[in-house]
Amino acid sequence: MEVIILKDAKSVAMTGAELVGQLLRLQPAAVLGFATGSTQLLLYRCLIEKCRAGDISFRRVTGFNLDEYLGVAADNPQSYRSYMDREFFDHIDIDGDNTHLPCCEDGQNPRLVGSAYEEKINKAGGIDLQLAGIGANGHIGFNEPGSSLGSRTRVKTLTRQTLEDNSRLFCTDEFQPRLAITMGIATIMAARRVLLLATGTGKAEAVSRMVEGPVSAMCPASILQMHERATVLLDEKAASRLKNKDYYDWAYLQNESLKDRFGD
Ligand code: F6R
Repeated sequence: MEVIILKDAKSVAMTGAELVGQLLRLQPAAVLGFATGSTQLLLYRCLIEKCRAGDISFRRVTGFNLDEYLGVAADNPQSYRSYMDREFFDHIDIDGDNTHLPCCEDGQNPRLVGSAYEEKINKAGGIDLQLAGIGANGHIGFNEPGSSLGSRTRVKTLTRQTLEDNSRLFCTDEFQPRLAITMGIATIMAARRVLLLATGTGKAEAVSRMVEGPVSAMCPASILQMHERATVLLDEKAASRLKNKDYYDWAYLQNESLKDRFGD
């Protein structure tokens, strides 16, 4: 796991966008895994700017989102489909037909939706780069604590903490879904590269468990310690509880000079 600690949320987003950009320049038809949530917003803004400037293009990209609420229609402004269209897809040159979320329409069997989603990912050749955030409880996607480390796309019940953390995004009398369909932990681990962004003090404890705690289903994001190519981009606040900070900074400098000499 490569841990990169940057000054602030803006630097995290800019560095994340640069890493996505590097991949797209090498592999214009890459398969990207997208995430939603507040942390990704700045990253999407940076990617939109790069796309508008002609620096990168999503024209040949295929996208698979981590998760979607169950029981929320795609055209509901609270759906993750709406979030992605509003915050990102509508502002870049991606072909809408190539953007996928694990949406389960009314009456559809969520189990079949989950396995069909896995199949679609496989047919596309697997995910080249999966973007992710982390929940304050250590969840990745909507794989809540206790999720099977071998799980694939399926329905998960959100924890009370996740519901509380996300309640800020819903009006008091608005329906807040308690269920979601999410890529499983094994689905995320199958991505060739994972790029996780975390910012703010509220994530410091979860980040320390993910990076320096034991690998455990009780902190699902900790499984990334076992990923061959996981990069964690943190601002100073999210990194504030890490014990090995100096080492990560030192290793980052060495890795950068290796990349300069031998490429990524
Ligand atoms: C969203 C997702 C979640 C979020 C996480 C952090 O697609 O999969 O795991 O990444 O809950 O959310 P924010 O960034 O809102 O704190």
